[in-house]
Amino acid sequence: MSSSLPAGVPSTHEAIAYITPRQPLQSITRPTVPPKPDEILIHVTWTASTPLDLHRADGGLGFKPGQPPHIMGTCYAGTVVGLPLSPSPPSHVQLADKVFGFVQDGEPREAGVQEYITVPSNKVSKLPSNISLQQAVTVPTNLITTFHSVTKDLELELPWPIPQGWTPKEVNSPILIWGAASSVGLYTVQVLRHWGYKNLLAVASGKHHESLKKLGASECFDYNKTKVTEEILEYVERTRKEVGADGPKVPFILDCIGSTEGTLRPLTKIAENGSKVAVMLPVINVHATDDHAPELAMNVTEVKLDWEEGAVLRGVRTFFYAENPFFRDYFHRDIMPTLLEQGVVQPNPQRLVEGATLLERAQNALDLLRSRAPSGEKLVWRVAEE
Ligand SMILES: NC(=O)c1ccc[n+]([C@@H]2O[C@H](COP(=O)([O-])OP(=O)(O)OC[C@H]3O[C@@H](n4cnc5c(N)ncnc54)[C@H](OP(=O)(O)O)[C@@H]3O)[C@@H](O)[C@H]2O)c1
Repeated sequence: MSSSLPAGVPSTHEAIAYITPRQPLQSITRPTVPPKPDEILIHVTWTASTPLDLHRADGGLGFKPGQPPHIMGTCYAGTVVGLPLSPSPPSHVQLADKVFGFVQDGEPREAGVQEYITVPSNKVSKLPSNISLQQAVTVPTNLITTFHSVTKDLELELPWPIPQGWTPKEVNSPILIWGAASSVGLYTVQVLRHWGYKNLLAVASGKHHESLKKLGASECFDYNKTKVTEEILEYVERTRKEVGADGPKVPFILDCIGSTEGTLRPLTKIAENGSKVAVMLPVINVHATDDHAPELAMNVTEVKLDWEEGAVLRGVRTFFYAENPFFRDYFHRDIMPTLLEQGVVQPNPQRLVEGATLLERAQNALDLLRSRAPSGEKLVWRVAEE
């Protein structure tokens, strides 16, 4: 085990933390941690925002004032600068490799918005040669969300590797992806298409329909239309005879947004007895604005809505993905880099967040999330220069 830091790595570094809800973020100094035998030390150069950042910063989700600072960042991309002397098992990355991954924000050693992180090796993916770090950092948080929600909450199979000749049992079942232009939605469409699911109904603004069809959506619907739920049900009724499905009209629903009025209420008109509805948590009862804090709920069944008896509601919690030992061990090492290298999954389009300092970029990214600026794109920003 290496107990000291490699030459050239500073003993302390900058990190960005939430201190008090609805108050500015703070730049803090953290010790740089030498890697234990199963860990890798990484110089972080890029991160990407997730709406969770806003749920934490404005909603105080998951931290309380007076607790140790909660460091931002569920993803990182950067360069390996330290390996333990005797990695166990042997490391799948080498010094100077470009890497990226999904991490737990608030976890001081690994949270993504700090210049150096020390992460378990099973949270490190090697960058494929066909994409940049800036592109790669859009992927981990929501690609793992796709795998976790589809397999755990919708109970659909995504075997890895895909056995030769394998076809999903639900090949023709309608799978409704509401919020398909969100980062989660874009990855879900691509993953389900690749695994052979052929009846993917995507709900997004009309401007995204063409690109969603290219990614694999079978049919697209615009949630800005007042009759969107009627249109979806009419389409499913019409095509049901062709695909020969029985049971609920839409058996699988992934709500990639989790908004009480924006997504859940319309979905109550679609979900029936036996439909599985997986909802991204937290449920947003009221979105944050400059003038008021958000109202968030972590239990989807407690949100008062009139669901049909027998509809199965599940709240998605991706931070528990490692309860599946296969994803814990192979998502970063194998699944994510392979899907990117083979071009099965395209990284999200990016919007670069500028700012003179790390703190300024972090704060500017939060402001963009608060004003709901991202549309079919991921906010990415520099943590440090190469
Ligand atoms: N609990 C978990 O495990 C977990 C994991 C990942 C994400 N999440 C949560 O899931 C949510 C989405 O995350 P994200 O990173 O994918 O967000 P995002 O990419 O920032 O979402 C922005 C997109 O949301 C779409 N949208 C907004 N309101 C909509 C509505 N009523 N119907 C359909 N689409 C709508 C917009 O679509 P248009 O451009 O088409 O207008 C926009 O493209 C966030 O609240 C996040 O915290 C939870």
